[in-house]
Amino acid sequence: MSSAVPGLSRTVFGRQFQNPLLLAAGTAGFGRELAGVMDLDRLGGLVTKAVSLEPRQGNRAPRVAEFRGGMLNSVGLANPGLDRVRAAYLPWLAANLRRAQVLVNVVGFTVEEYGDVVGGLDGAAGVSAFELNLSCPNTSAGGIEFGADAGCVRRIVALCRSRTRLPIVAKLSPVLPDIAGMALVARDAGADGIAVVNTLPGLLFAGSGSPRVGNGNGGVSGPVLLPVGVLAAARVVERTGGIPVIGIGGVRSAADVRQYLSVGASLVAMGTAALADPRLPERIVDQLERGRG
Ligand SMILES: Cc1cc2nc3c(=O)[nH]c(=O)nc-3n(C[C@H](O)[C@H](O)[C@H](O)COP(=O)(O)O)c2cc1C
Repeated sequence: MSSAVPGLSRTVFGRQFQNPLLLAAGTAGFGRELAGVMDLDRLGGLVTKAVSLEPRQGNRAPRVAEFRGGMLNSVGLANPGLDRVRAAYLPWLAANLRRAQVLVNVVGFTVEEYGDVVGGLDGAAGVSAFELNLSCPNTSAGGIEFGADAGCVRRIVALCRSRTRLPIVAKLSPVLPDIAGMALVARDAGADGIAVVNTLPGLLFAGSGSPRVGNGNGGVSGPVLLPVGVLAAARVVERTGGIPVIGIGGVRSAADVRQYLSVGASLVAMGTAALADPRLPERIVDQLERGRG
């Protein structure tokens, strides 16, 4: 195992990252799913899949469908729930990762649930920060996502802030009319970082006329998101002036990582491309270290 390269290591929201590359939420499970396949400790860190208060089965299969520009997914936030994540999944990460930082992605179906998950996981060994997935529909407000409503963003971030001293990152959707404005709302409510972007809503049909993913619609990820994510990161960096930004969307190469870094992102997460080729993240770290790719 090589030691950290000085130019790549960075302190972000008080945590030391050996390089800027993270695995994005939902595409690396809880880490141990990838243990035999890649050396997670070569990465800057990984973001777990979303953790909810109760276990969730998720949506009907098929859950993913590829298309020319990327992938459509409708996993439906399947996860073992707070208690099992705390008892079984986080201890594995704490015992097995030495250098990679662990961000826990959190989801709620009410404002209070976000706070309960953060409070319930606070103090668990090995957790570096929480990332709030604000792209979840608020069923008590007609299904509009929490992240599209400034009042909800303010309440969720402030509540989570009151339940932990760990850094909190607010993750936003690319479809917001003013993503940088919402980032400011999150910052002013106590967020330590902003992650942009989550998937874009999308729908595709099979030749038979039925939707290609079991849920009907889903989230679009992969190459098509690269320019969307880079613009969102640029706007958030510009307007929030100094709060760390995690750039996400469409990363497939060291050059793509540099796109995000060039607009001021502090960290960069990749998802879909790592699902397709689990050895790619390590190769990208190698290329970043050598200044290539
Ligand atoms: C299969 C799958 C599951 C995902 N699950 C989550 C999740 O649990 N929480 C979350 O905030 N984002 C989730 N995402 C979104 C990714 O973290 C990321 O924001 C998005 O895929 C864009 O990055 P990419 O183009 O590199 O995949 C998921 C994406 C995919 C493809």
